[in-house]
Amino acid sequence: MCGAQCVAFAAVLIVCWCNVVSAHGNKSPVTIIVQALNPSGLRIAVTDTPGIDVVVINANINAPIVESDAGKITGSVVESQNGLWMLETKDVALKEGDVVFYSVYVACGQQGDRMKGQQPILNLVEPSCRPSPTTVNGRTVCGGELVLEENFDTLNKSLWKHTIQFSDEPDRDFCTYTDSEENSFVKNGVLHLKATILGANDLLKPTKLRSCTWKRPDSKYCDRHPQGWDILPPTRSAQLTTRGTFSFRFGRIDIRAKTAAGDWLMSKLVLDPKASAYGSIPFESGRMEMLRSRGNPDVLEPSGWQLGARLNDPQADIRACDRNLWLYKNCPLNYGKLYSEEMRVFSLVWTPESITMTIDGECEHIIRPPAGGFLKHDRLRDECYDSLLERGTHMAPFDKEFYIYIGLLVAGFNNYLNEVISKGNPKPWNDRDPRAWLKFWQQRHLWEPTWISDMEVDYVKVWAL
Ligand SMILES: *[C@@H]1O[C@H](CO)[C@@H](O)[C@H](O)[C@H]1NC(C)=O
Repeated sequence: MCGAQCVAFAAVLIVCWCNVVSAHGNKSPVTIIVQALNPSGLRIAVTDTPGIDVVVINANINAPIVESDAGKITGSVVESQNGLWMLETKDVALKEGDVVFYSVYVACGQQGDRMKGQQPILNLVEPSCRPSPTTVNGRTVCGGELVLEENFDTLNKSLWKHTIQFSDEPDRDFCTYTDSEENSFVKNGVLHLKATILGANDLLKPTKLRSCTWKRPDSKYCDRHPQGWDILPPTRSAQLTTRGTFSFRFGRIDIRAKTAAGDWLMSKLVLDPKASAYGSIPFESGRMEMLRSRGNPDVLEPSGWQLGARLNDPQADIRACDRNLWLYKNCPLNYGKLYSEEMRVFSLVWTPESITMTIDGECEHIIRPPAGGFLKHDRLRDECYDSLLERGTHMAPFDKEFYIYIGLLVAGFNNYLNEVISKGNPKPWNDRDPRAWLKFWQQRHLWEPTWISDMEVDYVKVWAL
C-alpha cells in the first residue's frame, strides 16, 4: 500500500495514483488511444504518467472481452516511448464500422488499474500517423495535425451555427441572439460580432423568432409577447458555435481576437461540452472560458477592483455536488492597449493531464486536477461523491469533446455587482429587477455613445496534440 507514501509525496501526489484508483472508481490519469492503420494494423496506446511499470493490453475486434478470455490481440508493454505505452500489430485489417473492445491493465508498483472500453473505428490512418489522444468529431487524428484552420475569408455556415433565441433566466442577457448580418459578418478576413439597439417602436412588438435554436419553439426563448415594462430584450447580438459541426477532445486552440468596446458588453471565447455526459445543469459537464472580458473602459467595484477592458479572467468551470467551482485567473493588463483595442492570441492547451491558458504567451493559467480528479478539489464538499463525474477519468468533465463558442453578450444578470461604477455612473439596472431591460434601455444615452467597436476574430486554429 502506498498510503503512507501519499503523505510523504504530498507535493507529487501523482506518484501514488494507484491508491486513489482503488478508493473511488476509475480515476487513472491515462488516456487510451486506438488507431486503425491503412491498409492493415492496429495500435492501442496508453498515455504515460509517472509510476507506471508495465501495461498489459487485451483486445478483440467486434467481440467483447469476457473474463475467461484474453482476447485475440494480447501483449505486455514494458517501456514507454515518446510518452506512450503502445502495442502494435500488423496482422489485423480493420474497416470503418468495426469496434475494438479492449481491456487495459496498468500496473503501478503493487497495484494496478484495469480499464475496459470499446472504440468504434470511424477512420483508418497511415502508419506514419503519430498516435494522439486528440479526437475530432469522434475520429482519431494524427499527432501535431492542424485539424481546424478558420481564417474568416467568408462566414462558413457549414461550420459556424448561429444561436437564435431570446435570453432568459438565470442570466437574462439583455440581447436577442440573431443570425442577422447586422450582428455578425465577415469583413476583410475578420469576423465581426456587433451589438445593435432596438428602437422604441420595436420594444413591444410580439415576436416569434424564425429558426429559433432553443429546444422548445413555443417557449419564451423563441416566442415573446411583451407588454408594459416586460419588453423584448432591448438589444441584439450574436453567438456563433461549432456545435454539431466541429468538436474536439484534447489539443491546442489559438484564437486571435479583440473584444468589443462599449459599456456593458462582454466578449467571450469559450469551449462548451458537446454532450451532457456529466449532467445538463450549467457547468456540470464543464466549460472552458479563454476570454470573458467586459467592454467598459473603466468599471470599478466598491473595493476599487477594476473590472473593465483591462481585465480578462480565463477560467474552467465545473459544477458538482450542488457547488460551482470556478478555476480562474485574473489577467489584468497593467499598461498598454486594452483587450478591446488590440488583437491578442488566446491559447488553450488541453492535455490528458492539464489545461493551460495563455494570452500572447503570457499570464499562464494552469489547471490540473488534484489526485483522484476534480471531485477531490478542496473547494468542493468534503464528501462530494454523488456526482456523475465519478464515471469519468481524473480530468472529468474535461475528458469529452467540446465545441467552440464565440459570443458577444449585453449586460445580463450576474456579470456585474449592483454597486459597480462605470466612469462615474451607477449601473443602469439592478440584477433581479424584472424591469431591468427597460431601465437599461431608458438610460441608453449613458452607454450608447461608448459602443465604438465590434468584437473581432481574425482566426481560429486547432492542432492535435
Ligand atoms: C466550411 O466548413 C466545412 C465544415 O467544417 C468544411 O468542410 C469546409 O471545407 C469549409 N469551407 C471552407 C470554404 O472553408
